[in-house]
Amino acid sequence: MAEPKPLLQACQLVKRFGSVQALRGADFCVYPGEVVALMGDNGAGKSTLVRALCGGFVPDAGEILFQGRPITMRSPRDAQALGMETVYQDLALAPDLDAAANLFLGRELLRGGWGRRLAWLDHGEMRRRTVQALAGMQVTLPSLREPIASLSGGQRQSIAVVRAATWAQRLVFMDEPTAALGVAQTRAVLELIVRVRDSGRAVVLISHNLPDVMSVADRVEVLRLGRRTARFARGEFSADRIVAAITGALVTEPPASGEAIGIDMAAHKDMP
Ligand SMILES: Nc1ncnc2c1ncn2[C@@H]1O[C@H](COP(=O)(O)OP(=O)(O)O)[C@@H](O)[C@H]1O
Ligand SMILES: [Mg+2]
Repeated sequence: MAEPKPLLQACQLVKRFGSVQALRGADFCVYPGEVVALMGDNGAGKSTLVRALCGGFVPDAGEILFQGRPITMRSPRDAQALGMETVYQDLALAPDLDAAANLFLGRELLRGGWGRRLAWLDHGEMRRRTVQALAGMQVTLPSLREPIASLSGGQRQSIAVVRAATWAQRLVFMDEPTAALGVAQTRAVLELIVRVRDSGRAVVLISHNLPDVMSVADRVEVLRLGRRTARFARGEFSADRIVAAITGALVTEPPASGEAIGIDMAAHKDMP
């Protein structure tokens, strides 16, 4: 059987913030219909890599391939247009709005009017679709009409995941989605991740929580000091091997010869 094509692929991405080189030729790939965990120590470059892959900035060097074709994403809208959404750890929702308003934030449904002029928000339809979306992901909330500030952190994060899954046709990035959650809430969000995957979308789970990753990831890729240093196929990873990769004791992806030197040269090219 032919290898499936990656949905999204990062090739040798470089990103500098002043003198800090957050990505030093980082590779990464995600295949359709899988949960791939992106792991690495604090500062390894995980969030930076994900921001590059969801339109947060254009990398200084390297290439991003979508379904095998090079693309340039200049804003998160470009990523959204390709069917990719992101869930952040800091519960990026509007606390004063209810679940439906959050689900449709920036994508409100309108009715009536001429074109979009004199139109009004179609609250009924948005609420109906929200009920449907939550039910589809088996998320239950105490109330749909309360501002989400009244919900628990886990319930709010569930809304964020359902929102991402609702709009992402192909891929959902989740950057440390359970970092702010308790044990039971974490469990609920992990189950949700599996449901998003089972609904046919790929999930990139950024995490440094080993038990979380072990329980839902199909594959694992490890970033260290701005480079992918290890990747583990389905059934090939254990807690020990992942920890070894995160700490640098295990490397499965050695840099191509000369590659590291080339990147260092690039990093220093505009220094006096
Ligand atoms: N906006 C920024 N400005 C300056 N440095 C940054 C910025 N974002 C990230 N960095 C630096 O880049 C490196 C990688 O950060 P990050 O991608 O957040 O790592 P991770 O998510 O793996 O913890 C760190 O050294 C971090 O301090
Ligand atoms: Mg991070």
